[in-house]
Amino acid sequence: MLILNKTAGVFSKPSKRKVYEFLRSFNIYPGTLFLHKLVLGIETSCDDTAAAVVDETGNVLGEAMHSQTEVHLKTGGIIPPVAQQLHRENIQRIVQEALSVSRISPSELSAIATTIKPGLALSLGVGLSFSLQLVDQLKKPFIPIHHMEAHALTIRLTNKVEFPFLVLLISGGHCLLALVRGVSDFLLLGKSLDIAPGDMLDKVARRLSLIRHPECSTMSGGKAIEHLAKQGNRFHFDIKPPMQRAKNCDFSFSGLQHVIDKTIMQKEKEEGIEKGQILSSAADIAAAVQHTTACHLAKRTHRAILFCKQRNLLSQSNAVLVVSGGVASNLYIRKALEIVTNATQCTLLCPPPRLCTDNGIMIA
Ligand code: KG4
Ligand code: ZN
Repeated sequence: MLILNKTAGVFSKPSKRKVYEFLRSFNIYPGTLFLHKLVLGIETSCDDTAAAVVDETGNVLGEAMHSQTEVHLKTGGIIPPVAQQLHRENIQRIVQEALSVSRISPSELSAIATTIKPGLALSLGVGLSFSLQLVDQLKKPFIPIHHMEAHALTIRLTNKVEFPFLVLLISGGHCLLALVRGVSDFLLLGKSLDIAPGDMLDKVARRLSLIRHPECSTMSGGKAIEHLAKQGNRFHFDIKPPMQRAKNCDFSFSGLQHVIDKTIMQKEKEEGIEKGQILSSAADIAAAVQHTTACHLAKRTHRAILFCKQRNLLSQSNAVLVVSGGVASNLYIRKALEIVTNATQCTLLCPPPRLCTDNGIMIA
């Protein structure tokens, strides 16, 4: 099957492309004197169909993305066969779009890189089988990519970060702390023992029916919690961070979710409202859950920094903490982590929001 049959035909400015191809034949790009290898990255591990073309110096030539968030918000969570079907419907268009925005033809690619794990098996399968057909059709090398490694290394596209550095990945599906010693050399220091923080925030937002809140109806759960928390008072609820006595760097969020669930149930009784209606104390609950989440993440990260410094695994004065994933776009959580990095003479770095969440660039 010819997957990308008409890509070359969609270029709007063929003359520019000819110049580009001419320069390429000398291994020269405008403004540079370097042999550029071009990699197509494909990401379908969860609910985003994404593709991008990046060269070996980190220049992003183009990208495209189809987000399924709107569909999954309506169903109250990701239903894997639905995600799979949406990836199937969009992958060819997204890859084609990434190539045409990049103004390169498939034959110019040096390799195809695709997320192979971890993620939803049905979603991963769509990207993988599409890529393998493409690899076969174009006779290009295939680079299997570990999704978490890609998240962890993305910061090196935007900042000059030397190994080793510490990374905290927090999203709807991930929660881990690792020491990044090299491109594929990771020391896992801690992970969530149950659900990820974004998953917990999404569940709390659903339980609070924030999708019906006029200011939050189009926001992801975590974003809606951050938005409402600004109007709330966290001191109205005293919720303790989880795992206070655990002498490790692991995380846990399902206990916190149950405590919040109970609080909501009690408030519904007090306010005499039905499940599904919005509590008058929703903003206070959002502020309390956000604060407790931030404290938990900050405390475990502090512990990891101290551990690494004590064992000389991280530089004493120039250590870097990279925070990425959808939850890393939360400014309150970032502030809490900044308190930790300031107190430990570390630098806090976060990729720009569009690179924090799942994307094709990080895979390429
Ligand atoms: O990285 P991402 O786009 O996808 C994966 O989960 O891999 O992250 C999405 C998660 C969702 O759980 C969403 O609620 C959360 O990140 N999120 C936030 C914020 N924006 C998105 N959580 C807290 N504060 C935010 N501003
Ligand atoms: Zn991810």
